[in-house]
Amino acid sequence: MGLLQPHGGHGRRDRRRAVNGLGDIRSVDVAGRRVLVRADLNVPLRNGTVADTTRIDRFAPTVTDLVARGARVVLMTHLGRPAGEANPVYSARPVADRLARASGYPVTFVPDCVGTVAEHAASHHEAGTIQLLENLRFHKAEEENSRSFALRLSVNGDIYVNDAFSCAHRAHASTHAIVRLMPAYAGPSLLAEVAALETVLENPVRPVAALVGGPKVSSKIAILEQLVTRMDHLIIGGGMANTFLAAKRLDVGRSLHERDCIGIARTIMAKAAESGCRILLPDDVVVAHDLNETATPLEVPVNAIPADRMALDVGSATVMRIGRVLEECRTLLWNGPLGAFEIDPFGRGTFAVARYAAELVQVGRLTAIAGGGDTAAALSAARVADRITYLSTAGGAFLEWLEGRSLPGIEALRNKVPNMEIA
Ligand code: 3PG
Ligand code: MG
Repeated sequence: MGLLQPHGGHGRRDRRRAVNGLGDIRSVDVAGRRVLVRADLNVPLRNGTVADTTRIDRFAPTVTDLVARGARVVLMTHLGRPAGEANPVYSARPVADRLARASGYPVTFVPDCVGTVAEHAASHHEAGTIQLLENLRFHKAEEENSRSFALRLSVNGDIYVNDAFSCAHRAHASTHAIVRLMPAYAGPSLLAEVAALETVLENPVRPVAALVGGPKVSSKIAILEQLVTRMDHLIIGGGMANTFLAAKRLDVGRSLHERDCIGIARTIMAKAAESGCRILLPDDVVVAHDLNETATPLEVPVNAIPADRMALDVGSATVMRIGRVLEECRTLLWNGPLGAFEIDPFGRGTFAVARYAAELVQVGRLTAIAGGGDTAAALSAARVADRITYLSTAGGAFLEWLEGRSLPGIEALRNKVPNMEIA
């Protein structure tokens, strides 16, 4: 776990020290300063209340630490995709109350992120309280990465912190343009994400396996191409495995698969063979006529999928084989479920593998990093979310990192390091 704890705690003398080229806000004396934090509090709302507090709960320690160290914290977030217009449906207001509960400090909601409303709030900011600004995306200029909008945002603070890894793939005013305008640092959650991803991708303890699932090959081509050159094992499950089985000329019946990706699947298998990466495809699958709770599941070998049924989960022989690979490995990257886990009984394969991976983590034999899209939901449903080494709540940013793309939000912060010290 040591690797996942970015160093440079406050009170130490190494103030200039940067983690992965990123300045750590925990090494900065923030007492009495206004700290403007870009968070990702883009949480799902239902009937005007927060339906899932995961992102708020995860972010709370960042803000609690800053306030405890004497900072006056002003928070920026986006929520949903209101397309540049103020729309009460996407107001960040419901987040304030939940954040107050999670952080232990009062949170004042500020009904605009720039202009006189924000300025007025700033002049009344009491120590020991947090201000949450209204949805950044109520202004078109945010997504346009406008410098003048970033300038208007920047007057809300003396120091900028980005703690929103899950927005790092967006070059927006609050994640990109603003970085050039003020002293800028990374927050602890962002640093933990970067450290976790570097642990598994850049310098993993080997053998290292990637488990990639989810419905489609087409959405993960770039990821698979990256992984076959870096991993010792690539375990493929979910709907995308069917395309690989079809590429091996197996009849997948009515299973979801992408005929136009069969060539790509073959190329990926050839690249894997070239780079010594072993691909594990299902040996058996759970099939049914339809995807619903009343369907009768049947376990069959992959060369005996009935023409009128579809594969909806990996079978028990496959689960055992994946388990054996995990026992051999020291590091695991997990992205995507192995089956239609939302619908019982088709989550069994995903859950069994998740629990086994968590056990290996608990006994210190495996470092398991998971994230992207449905993965957090699948691992939460398996009740292992807090028992694996690191679970990312980022979707697109996590996937883009796996594709090997540089993330504008991170790059902007990295370039900042030479003059990160505040006068
Ligand atoms: C997410 O939920 O993926 C992030 O908050 C980014 O949101 P976006 O995809 O609307 O930019
Ligand atoms: Mg997204």
